[in-house]
This record gives sequence, structure tokens and C-alpha cells, in this order.
Amino acid sequence: MSATQAPILETRKLVKVFGGVRAIDGLDFSVRPGELHCILGPNGAGKSTLFKLLMGVERPSEGQVFYRGRDVTRLGTHERARLGLTCKFQNVPIYQELTVAQNLFVPLRRHHGVHQIPGETAKLLARLHLSGTEDLMANTLSHGQQQWLSIGMSLAARPEILLLDEPTAGMGPEETRETGEIVLELNRQGVTIVVIEHDMAIVRQLAPSVTVLHFGRLFAQGSMAQIENDPSVQDIYLGTGARH
Ligand SMILES: Nc1ncnc2c1ncn2[C@@H]1O[C@H](COP(=O)(O)OP(=O)(O)O)[C@@H](O)[C@H]1O
Ligand SMILES: [Mg+2]
Repeated sequence: MSATQAPILETRKLVKVFGGVRAIDGLDFSVRPGELHCILGPNGAGKSTLFKLLMGVERPSEGQVFYRGRDVTRLGTHERARLGLTCKFQNVPIYQELTVAQNLFVPLRRHHGVHQIPGETAKLLARLHLSGTEDLMANTLSHGQQQWLSIGMSLAARPEILLLDEPTAGMGPEETRETGEIVLELNRQGVTIVVIEHDMAIVRQLAPSVTVLHFGRLFAQGSMAQIENDPSVQDIYLGTGARH
């Protein structure tokens, strides 16, 4: 990936104020096509707010969001999704009383004819390590498998860039590691991925480029090795309630 390649997603001087608190405070942030990028930062650093601003779930108080060089600041979530920008937030509900295939039907139907759906479902499930689960009720899947199905709901829209907010929340070590494999495989297949994570084991496994947010500002940026060895990054995690 060329370092000079234009960003696929970019914020300029982004600000979001909630009741006087600057949750995002003048943030310049960018992601290049094909990148696997991880956002770290203590609780309340503004990570989820950044995703909401990138997606159009929240509107910025100041500043702009660009997607492929186009100013999308005033576009809604669906318009951004149509351009290829999709997001899986924490705890996105799947339909527990429907089968796996039924859950994927509606998002797949937006892009495929009915006759293509069984084949597309099988392809999608293979990418999510869920092959053969088509006819299972979603509520019979493990917690981790439900999270992967939820990623599948976003992937069904064939996004160019996928934003994942704490995809391993509530998972044990084995499911966390497998989630890391799934994310790495999706990235190798060409999906640009930005992931918010607390779990350092998965961040090491992904070996992404890392941005650390603190008080809504860019605190540090670099490779995982650089970030892990930065004493000032260790300082901001102390006593903040971060899990690791
Ligand atoms: N809808 C909201 N209304 C008021 N304050 C909010 C809202 N969303 C987030 N905040 C505040 O913005 C700050 C950043 O929150 P958030 O983006 O959720 O942090 P993170 O995801 O890094 O833990 C926190 O101080 C939080 O309380
Ligand atoms: Mg959050």
C-alpha cells in the first residue's frame, strides 16, 4: 500500500460537543484504502462518537468528513452506506427468532436477485466462519457466532470500508482470536477496516496501524509496536477503567 495514496476516509478539524463537553475536539484523522486501522483510547476518549460522526449517525458541531475525497458531512447514514461506508456498532441486534439465512436475506436482497441469494448466503457465511449454519435459529448460535452474523449483516451491503466498534466485546479468548482471523481475512479480501478494540491480544494479532484518542484528540499514532512501547500511552490507560 503506497503511503502517498489518497485517503478513503478522512476527517478535518472535526468537533462534536455534547452539553459543553468536547467528545471530539478538532480531530484530523485519515484511513487509506486497504488499511487495517485500530482505534485505541480509554473509556470516554471519543472512539464511538468518532464512528457515529463518520457514519452520519451524529452530525459534527464543526469540521468535515470526507469519503473518497467527497465531502459527506451532510449526508445521512443510508446515503453513506450506499457509497460503501458501513458500520457494525456494539450490540447490533440480529433477529433471534429467525434463521441465519433469514437474517441475511434482507440485506443481501438489496444487492442480489432472489435466485442468487442461496449462493451469496453460503459465500458470506464462509467468510464469517459460519458455513453450514443457514437453517439454524440465530438464538442457537454462540455469542461469538451471533457477533459474526451481525458483521455479516454489514458485509452483505458489500462495503468498501467496514467500521467495527468493539467486535469482541463479551467474547472469551478463543472466540476473540477467531474474530481476529475473520477480520484479517476480510482485510486481505480487500475490505478496508477500522476497528475500535480494548483487547490488546487481538490488536497484536491484527498488527494494524494504530490511532490513540484521548479527550477527543489524537494522542498518538503508529504501529502497534510503537504504541505499546510508548510510555505516555501506558500512562493514559492507568486508572481509567480500561480492561487491559
Ligand atoms: N449522546 C451523548 N450525549 C451526551 N454525551 C455523550 C453522548 N455520547 C457520548 N457522550 C460523551 O462523549 C464522550 C465520549 O464518549 P464515547 O465516544 O462513547 O467514548 P468511547 O467510545 O471512547 O468510550 C464521553 O464523555 C461521553 O459521556
Ligand atoms: Mg465506545
